[in-house]
Amino acid sequence: MGSTAQLIFEGKTVELPVVTGTEGEKALDISKLRQETGLITYDPGFANTGSCKSKITFMDGEKGILRYRGIPIEQLAEHSTFVETAYLLINGELPTRKQLNRFSMLLNDHSLVHEDMRQFFENFPRRAHPMGILSSMVNALQAFYPELPERPEEEEINVTFARIISKVRTMAAMSYKISRGHTVIYPRHDLTYAANFLNMMFHTPVRPYRIDDDLVDALNLFWILHADHEQNCSTAAVRLVGSARVNLYAAISAGICALWGPLHGGANQAVIEMLTAIQKSGGDIAPFIARARDKNDPFRLMGFGHRVYKTYDPRARIMKKTCDKVLAKLKLHDPLLDIAKRLEEVALKDSYFIEHNLYPNVDFYSGVLLRVLGIPLNMFTVMFAIGRLPGWISQWKESVDDPDWKLHRPRQVYIGPEKRDYVPIEKRR
Ligand code: CMC
Repeated sequence: MGSTAQLIFEGKTVELPVVTGTEGEKALDISKLRQETGLITYDPGFANTGSCKSKITFMDGEKGILRYRGIPIEQLAEHSTFVETAYLLINGELPTRKQLNRFSMLLNDHSLVHEDMRQFFENFPRRAHPMGILSSMVNALQAFYPELPERPEEEEINVTFARIISKVRTMAAMSYKISRGHTVIYPRHDLTYAANFLNMMFHTPVRPYRIDDDLVDALNLFWILHADHEQNCSTAAVRLVGSARVNLYAAISAGICALWGPLHGGANQAVIEMLTAIQKSGGDIAPFIARARDKNDPFRLMGFGHRVYKTYDPRARIMKKTCDKVLAKLKLHDPLLDIAKRLEEVALKDSYFIEHNLYPNVDFYSGVLLRVLGIPLNMFTVMFAIGRLPGWISQWKESVDDPDWKLHRPRQVYIGPEKRDYVPIEKRR
């Protein structure tokens, strides 16, 4: 018999089962709490709420650990590719060579976007944010491609997942080309997933794009680091929307909307905007630190702090090292990287940041890497979205297969007016 905790409320003692995870994490099972006591829990932002059991990603925010399906992020970053990592997340195991070839083939086979969808892209205003476009287009996929039936065959599942992972990448590059008024470049069968993306983004009929293996490796690494992060805001959105049994495209589209926010995936764009503002103001960091410390100023140091990590984000460590390596290899220099490093040095010694456990997160250095790849600023969060697809898909799959699955429907503590009568309009003051 597992351990239990006791809760004493209004003289009555109730036993609450304790659920223990593989890594020793403990959680109180409160699923019968209301039935037995009339109480619900109150947890703004769900900071202490485990919404599911999951076998996908483990993170320890105190120790700075991140593992996909048990494998440390550092090992995947060094040895894997994004496609292999996607397979691992979705299927639970690293693929054999045959399985990987088959998965790559599926990605290739489903890389084209229905030609009728091009008109949609063309009719968005030029200033439209690519994240808004992407979420709309992913939702629209449901009108063009079959939804998964209630009890799908394995092949139908594989094709649907490959279709999303492949087409979202194609649509991202397509939206960039159309926003610039350039010819859309189609995916090529002979290129890997990441090389294909760079080619679709930067090849033009007048200037062929030269694929650089270092940049392809950097992009693979960027996407691997973003591939999953357990129950973050966008993944929770995918699970929540998916729990109504809506089609997968709609659930992923909801995840894209959540990711757009500057407190979540939108932070990578916000970091570069902040570093640019520091540069334009003459490079003095002190006023920005002072603003971040000021309780009356809503300004936050973007790329710093995390709900779970109370130490250095392991992804930020890898990202920073990679920026140095890639810039050195390409003999490039980015003054924003210098500013970022100075900012980090000052912040990590500052009492406010120490007391609040604020360390660089994944977004702090990722923008520098995206700049090296030539990605325009307004596409940064789209890059995060492409990377997060395997995470969203695997979490969605896990949730629909979960025997404990339930429609997500939190409760609330109502603090509005007590019962009162309707007042006819002529009597209102
Ligand atoms: N700059 C200044 N103060 C901060 C920051 C920051 N970046 N982050 C948190 N704080 C302070 C906050 O003001 C609060 O102070 P106090 O307790 O004195 O009122 C305290 O730290 C706790 O903040 P919180 O917002 O309650 O904590 P949270 O766990 O909800 O915050 C966060 C997580 C990511 C929303 C927050 O750290 C933040 O806004 N960071 C900047 C945006 C950012 O970089 N987001 C990317 C997150 S990583 C990528 C991803 O997974 O999406």
